[in-house]
This record gives sequence, C-alpha cells and structure tokens, in this order.
Amino acid sequence: MSGTAQIGVTGLAVMGRNLARNFARHGYTVAVHNRSYARTQSLVEEHGDEGTFVPSESMADFVASLERPRKVVIMVKAGGPTDAVIDELVPLLEEGDIVVDAGNAHFPDTIRREAALKEHGLHFVGTGVSGGEEGALNGPSIMPGGTREAYESLGPILEDISAKVDGVPCATYVGSDGAGHFVKMVHNGIEYADMQLIAEAYDLLRQGLGASAAEIGEIFAQWNTGDLESFLIEITADVLKHTDADTGKAFVDIILDQAEQKGTGRWTVQNGLDLGVPITGIAEATFARALSGSVPQREAARAVLPAHAAQWEVKDRDAFIEDVRQALYASKVVAYSQGFDQIAAAATEYGWDIDRGAMARIWRGGCIIRARFLNRITEAYERAADLPLLLADEYFTDAVASGLPAWRRVVAGAAQNGVPTPAFSSSLAYYDGVRAERLPAALVQAQRDFFGAHTYKRVDREGTFHTEWSGDRTEAEA
Ligand SMILES: NC(=O)c1ccc[n+]([C@@H]2O[C@H](COP(=O)([O-])OP(=O)(O)OC[C@H]3O[C@@H](n4cnc5c(N)ncnc54)[C@H](OP(=O)(O)O)[C@@H]3O)[C@@H](O)[C@H]2O)c1
Repeated sequence: MSGTAQIGVTGLAVMGRNLARNFARHGYTVAVHNRSYARTQSLVEEHGDEGTFVPSESMADFVASLERPRKVVIMVKAGGPTDAVIDELVPLLEEGDIVVDAGNAHFPDTIRREAALKEHGLHFVGTGVSGGEEGALNGPSIMPGGTREAYESLGPILEDISAKVDGVPCATYVGSDGAGHFVKMVHNGIEYADMQLIAEAYDLLRQGLGASAAEIGEIFAQWNTGDLESFLIEITADVLKHTDADTGKAFVDIILDQAEQKGTGRWTVQNGLDLGVPITGIAEATFARALSGSVPQREAARAVLPAHAAQWEVKDRDAFIEDVRQALYASKVVAYSQGFDQIAAAATEYGWDIDRGAMARIWRGGCIIRARFLNRITEAYERAADLPLLLADEYFTDAVASGLPAWRRVVAGAAQNGVPTPAFSSSLAYYDGVRAERLPAALVQAQRDFFGAHTYKRVDREGTFHTEWSGDRTEAEA
C-alpha cells in the first residue's frame, strides 16, 4: 500500500528542516525523518502549522508514508553518512523510486552511487543546492543531475520551491549522474574567486586611499547599483559598515585574518588540474585562504622579509576608485570564464550535455553568487552555445577591453606598493596569456626535449621531432 506524502526528507538538521518546510509551504505533503527522532519532533512541534508533515520515527515507516513512485530527499552530512542512509533506504524502496541526495557530495561519489542504485532499478539524483539555510527555506538555486526520466516527475517540485528571478525558476536539469553535484562544486569554486576578488578590491582601496572600512563600505554600496550588483557586493558593503559592539572598532578589524574552507574550493581546483583547465582565479582564491592560515610561515616571513615599497599615495581618489572597480569587473569576468570552461571540459570528459547558459540562469537567484552579471552570461551562451571561452563573447570582450588600462594600472600599482593581489594579478596574466600570439611554451618544449627527449612539433611542417642535444644536434623525426 502506498502512503500519502508527495515527497520525503530524511536528515532534518538546519538544511533538511528548512527544505522540508519549503516543500510544505508550497502545499506538498512532506514525509519527514531523522536518525534521532528528537529533530523530527521539534520540526513538527515548531512548524507543523506551516503545512502538512507526516513524521516517522523509523525509516521503514517513513518510506511507507510516501506515495509511489517515492521521492526521498537525503539531506545529511556528506560522505559516509550519505552512504549509511542510502544503505538503509535501498532495501525498503521499489523499482522506479527516486532518491535525491541534496547534500554537498563530491561528484565522483554521486557517479558511483547513481550506478549502484541503477542496479536496483532506482533513480539516484545527485542535486546541488545553494543558498545556505536561508535559501533552503525561501528558495534555493537547485542543480539536479540523474536521469531525465527522474527529472520529469521530480523537476516540477524542485522548480516550484526554488528561487525565482523574473518569474523564472532557479532550478533546471543539469545532466546525467554526477553533473548536478559537479556544477554545484564549480559554483562554489567561482564563489571563492568572487569573494577573493572583492577582498582584494577592499584591500587596495584601504591601502591606496587610507580610507576607513565604513568609507569603503559606502563605495561597495555605490558599486552595487551598477554592473557589479550582486549578493556578495551587497553583503560586503553591510559588513564593512558594521561596528563591533564591544570595542567600537570596524567589525572587519576585529576578525582574525585567517580564512577557512570546507573543501569545495579544493575539489574544484583538484578537478581543474585533472582536466587541465586553468582556473587560476579559483586556484589563487583557494591558495590565498591557505596562505592566510599558514600562521608559522606568516610569522617567520613578517619578521625578516622586507617590502621595499613606499607608502601608497593615490593622487586622484575618484579615478583610483573607478580603476579598482573596472579591474574588479574584468578579473571577475575572467574567473567566471574559467569556471564555465571547466564545466565545458567536464561535460566532454564525463559525457554530460550541459547547457552553460542555463547554469548561469539558475544561479541568478537563491545562491551565493547571484548577480545581475549572470544575465550577460546567459545571453552570451544564447548567442553561441559552443562559445570557446566567455571572454570571446562580444559583450565581455568589450567590457574587459574598456577596463584594460585601469586593470593594468591597478595590478602594477599593487605590485609596486607591495599589496598582494593574487586573483587580480593572475586574472590579468591569464588574459594576456590566452590572447597572446605566441607563448614562451615553445621554450619549455625545447627544454623538455633537451633533458628528457620529450620531442616537439614545428611551426613550419607536420610531424614530431627530437634534436640530439648531447650529440651533434641534428634533428630527427621521432
Ligand atoms: N549548511 C549549509 O549552508 C549548506 C548549504 C548547502 C548544502 N549543505 C549540505 O547539506 C547537507 C546537510 O547540511 P546541514 O548543515 O543541514 O547538516 P550537517 O550538519 O551536515 O548534518 C547533520 C545531519 O546529518 C545526519 N547524520 C549524520 N550522520 C548520520 C548517519 N551516519 N546516519 C544518518 N544521519 C546522519 C544528522 O542526524 P542526527 O540529527 O541524528 O545527528 C543530521 O540530520 C550537508 O551535506 C551539507 O554539506 C549545507
């Protein structure tokens, strides 16, 4: 006999609880379950009036309370706990049922789990969910993978509870097996890059202008009315204007300058290396967090390493602020362009058919990188679905080209004055590298052939060659 709940959520910590409430508020009958029953009880006691919840203490009762084909959302700690829940669930489910993992799984785990559940006739939908607890409750950005067949019945529910921008849901089918969790991973990587770029812009303004945190907060608030408008710029303005209640100091000045991470940035960079995609913005952002946390190295370096840099004296305040704004925008375009390149490379490598424009569209609302700018990315991929790099779209080419003099001035000024801007600088280096007529990679190839007989290709004829470096230096076809 089939139950009455249209969807079930197991794992009722902050994310699962809010997701279950979101389903209920949209009129769905929601089966709820958690390993320890107290969480289930407190959800129903505190929020039972928001909709129809069907609480169960045992997994068997939970499964029995769902209508068929069952749709079970797992929202537990990623890794071992997800496998533990799947192992408990699978024997209770029947062919055609859909298991949704909405936690932050690493995409290779999702590929493995999808294949295993397929053996049991079950659909496994690895789903990225972004927006934190607030998004889970009021509308997240949702990135589901798995089969199209599963999406047909699950998709409308996910689209219903997702964030909406101009009436368009921030949820869409991403691609088979691990594609959803992959795209969520890259989203988080881009989030790292975006945050680092904003932090560097703040540092440049602080050191260049000698301005207070609150004054810089006003500059960010102003920027949030233009091309840079985004959730991250908005909260940056708020944070910078905030004062610590205890000390009366700027809040940002009382925080230890050691940034942490939960690991999705690391996964993104590792995958970038695996695929050979230069996601330098994301990598620099991840390493910048690592550097900030390298306390013994920082202490040792601070004690001995000179700056040989003058105190930065900015002559024209307004011109400098505009330069930093343009440099931030250009660097941001590079970071996003690289992230979308990574998605394209992964689609080829793992056999996914991912619509990059649609990814930008579902990131416009609900998630941490939500921004006006994402409309431009969607438009770019609408103009050319197979765009080789985002920077090659006419809008972005023009936007970056017009900011180029400012970008160069800012990066040069930062270097001369000893202000670290790894993401600004590496983005500019990427820009100059990717557009270069000829790269010094030719010399690297010659060096490789010299010490390792790794061979090289010539610009003037087909074939692969090796020079007898230790002999008479004649060239032979390899
Ligand atoms: N927090 C965020 O902003 C955010 C944003 C996006 C995605 N996510 C992802 O969403 C998922 C849930 O996050 P969260 O912060 O709500 O919770 P969490 O702290 O990651 O996990 C706690 C939940 O996992 C359950 N759990 C842990 N080990 C278990 C096991 N062996 N068997 C069964 N259940 C087990 C807990 O049950 P008990 O109550 O019985 O301990 C509890 O319901 C995670 O994968 C997280 O990465 C989080």
